[in-house]
Amino acid sequence: MKIFTSAAKLQKWCREKKRNGRRIALVPTMGCLHEGHLSLIETARRKKADEIVVSIFVNPVQFGPNEDYAKYPREEKADLAKCRKARATAVFLPSPAEMYASDHSVYVNEETLSKGLCGARRPGHFRGVCTVVAKLFNIVGPDFAVFGQKDYQQAQVIKRMVRDLDFGIDIVVAPIVREKSGLAKSSRNTYLDEGEKERAVVLSRAVAGVKAGEKAAAAKRRLRKMIDDAGLETDYVEIVSPDTLEDVKSVRKGDVVLVAAKCGKTRLIDNGKI
Ligand code: PAF
Repeated sequence: MKIFTSAAKLQKWCREKKRNGRRIALVPTMGCLHEGHLSLIETARRKKADEIVVSIFVNPVQFGPNEDYAKYPREEKADLAKCRKARATAVFLPSPAEMYASDHSVYVNEETLSKGLCGARRPGHFRGVCTVVAKLFNIVGPDFAVFGQKDYQQAQVIKRMVRDLDFGIDIVVAPIVREKSGLAKSSRNTYLDEGEKERAVVLSRAVAGVKAGEKAAAAKRRLRKMIDDAGLETDYVEIVSPDTLEDVKSVRKGDVVLVAAKCGKTRLIDNGKI
């Protein structure tokens, strides 16, 4: 497994691989790898990638000033071991200075799908995500990239960016990986104590608790109560149409339930398709 810290060196390596007809997959991550990430690598392999490039970069530009950038878990050594075991062929581990020149001044802004849900609560978040993902796409030039459905809005925003900016990269969205309890795997679960982990399971029950044919407003009220009664603080409960992320009035098959809530000090998200 090759390890790169230089964008230029990785770009050169990827271009060489492409010239030799190799099919490249990119799996962008912020590290602290868990089974959810490993399933993205596995998906890349199942989709017949010859080279699987995993990027590990806690992207400062997608964190707000009062968010957890400084304390976001960083486990470089363990992450590299996991990538090796999962048979990634290259890992990109850049420093913030490698990714952002001190006078960096170009950003990518998606202006519709980013507005609601997490975008409304985390101003600038998707601008930071789109910017770093666009940079990774330009560095690696993958045939396809794999993202997790856990960040449903993020996957939709990236698909839109790829379409509108003609990246010509296939975006593959892999299903959410859950603990036995139902809790969606997330690097931020490392912030939770045992009691919080038990309470947080309500989010997976909530997203599974909506049926086609229901009025969305009533379903959202019910889920909100369910989450708050479990001792979490609901941030949002929304039921949206899968591609436009617009609110629906009556729930139909294929719509998506998205929830965000604070469990203690930790903000968690989950979602599920009806
Ligand atoms: O989903 C994540 O871990 C991040 O938002 C991503 C896509 C790696 C960009 O920093």
